[in-house]
Amino acid sequence: MRNERLNEFVKQVSERTDLLQLVQGYVPLKRKGNRYWGCCPFHQENTPSFSVVPEKGFFYCFGCHAGGNAFKFISLIENVSYFEAIKMQAEKLGIELPRREQTPAEIAHEQERADLRKVNEMARDFFYNCLTMTQLGTPGMAYFKARGISDKTIEEFHLGFAPASWDKLSMAFQKRGVKKELLLASGLSAERKMEGSLYDRFRGRVMIPIADERDRIVGFGGRVIDDATPKYLNSPETILFNKRKLLFGLNRSHRAIQQAGYAIVVEGYMDAISVFGAGIENVVATLGTAFTVEHCKKLLRYASEICFCYDSDEAGQSATIRALSIVCVTGARVRVIVVPDGKDPDEYIRKHGAGAFRALVSKALPLVEYRLRYVLAHTDYDTLDGKVQALHQMLPVLTGIRETAMRNEYEKKIARSLMLDEGIVHDELRRYTHGNLNKTVSLPKVPRAQDNAVQQAGRTILQMAVRDPSILDHVQAVVPLSAITDTTQQEIFHFLQNHKGKELFLDNMDDTLSEAATSELSRAMVEEFDEQNHESAYTDALQVLCKSYLQMLYIEHSRKAEEYLRVGNPAYREELSEVKRIKHEIDTLQL
Ligand code: UTP
Ligand code: MN
Repeated sequence: MRNERLNEFVKQVSERTDLLQLVQGYVPLKRKGNRYWGCCPFHQENTPSFSVVPEKGFFYCFGCHAGGNAFKFISLIENVSYFEAIKMQAEKLGIELPRREQTPAEIAHEQERADLRKVNEMARDFFYNCLTMTQLGTPGMAYFKARGISDKTIEEFHLGFAPASWDKLSMAFQKRGVKKELLLASGLSAERKMEGSLYDRFRGRVMIPIADERDRIVGFGGRVIDDATPKYLNSPETILFNKRKLLFGLNRSHRAIQQAGYAIVVEGYMDAISVFGAGIENVVATLGTAFTVEHCKKLLRYASEICFCYDSDEAGQSATIRALSIVCVTGARVRVIVVPDGKDPDEYIRKHGAGAFRALVSKALPLVEYRLRYVLAHTDYDTLDGKVQALHQMLPVLTGIRETAMRNEYEKKIARSLMLDEGIVHDELRRYTHGNLNKTVSLPKVPRAQDNAVQQAGRTILQMAVRDPSILDHVQAVVPLSAITDTTQQEIFHFLQNHKGKELFLDNMDDTLSEAATSELSRAMVEEFDEQNHESAYTDALQVLCKSYLQMLYIEHSRKAEEYLRVGNPAYREELSEVKRIKHEIDTLQL
């Protein structure tokens, strides 16, 4: 019932959407035949390879291969999930969303978030007005001017000033009807122990509003204008303000990140503001915490490369190394912009100008290069011990290089730098790769073509389970869920299991599911579904999963048998008969 309503809703939005008009709101287009052409908004180009075919309802870029329907376009250009794109478009067209009754707890929670956003927005305006329109803001303005921050930047970032008084904001906001609890929850005010009256958290500081990607204010960073401590005071963690997930500036930079194909990550608010002001807009800053996997995932939605530009002092270098190791495992491309003579990006730009900084960006070092420099600077490789140590620190990044020719080049380079024999470097690398594989890969991989079939089968079953979660019991009776190898799908199946018997709602899924799972699940919920061939599609998919699962078992037991045989352990006989049994099961598999 619910899904019918949802399908009907999506169909309605889709029918009333004019793709051409939609795209033209972002990209100027010219007509040629039945296609319209323009410069692609998803990559940098000067000659148009981006096209729209209105009557077919799709767009396609011959340059970067971005393409799809109207919702795909919105999701790409607005950086929202596919389902959010549908919702946005519905809102624009005035089509009401099919909604279920929310529980009182959900309503209260949503209200709390909305209230917090509202009061943060009020505070942003309060600080901004204080800086730009009142006497109280004079010290703040003087500070920004001394740092070379232009009026344009102040306006662009909505920078502000928290007056040097105990309770200007708390009083003003209470007078305007803002509840005490809300002021406390947002962290804008604190409570005096004895009297219970409120005072301002931020006093005598220049204020930097922090927004989420959707441009909603979630918190603040406030900097002293003298040498007092702490230098920066941030909003406390709230349900909106999570430093492990937020990246300062992403609301302004996501489109530039997409266009440039990489994101520059800096350490400080002021660095991001300076870099942005210098015309390099694909920049974000962490909020005084280490770079996390969540940060990484967020950036990888926009581009496949991350470029770190941390302070070049010792602390900055080791922060870079830590960040690199976070990103390394995700398979993203990584480079490092090295700022000379111990400066941070902001100081460098102020001293040498935007052009000089741009030159640094263009000379960014690939990950291995940076790591090698770091290792050479931090180990004593005069001794053999030191050489071995240095080499071992290089091995993880070396294994990460997929292209053999390039890896060979670096092996040579490392050998030269450490004055080691090339053969030794090569052997060590092989040993490392080998040992590492045995450690991390617990189950043998099924061949690639089958991987895709398994993934497709997982998707088919997922689509069915979304419509009818009760089939999960049957699936599991036939094959363990571990047969599903795609981690995103796995996540969704667990989610569905935990939500059995409840209706699914996309609005409140985001908190527990990863981005990838949310978007896959949204798609499964709104995609056309072939009810007619339901039965056979289901058994086919299940058969694929079963087969792949049995093959995994087969390889696992074969390996064990081989290993036992090698070391002369008689247990190999049992393993062999298990292998035979599985083989028979595969050959006769019929559901
Ligand atoms: P830095 O100490 O490197 O300062 O902190 P900065 O960015 O160079 O600042 P300016 O140029 O002196 O204004 C980097 C980041 O660490 C967080 C802030 O997010 C800051 O931007 N930080 C730093 C804090 O949260 N609290 C502090 O007391 C200091
Ligand atoms: Mn600085």
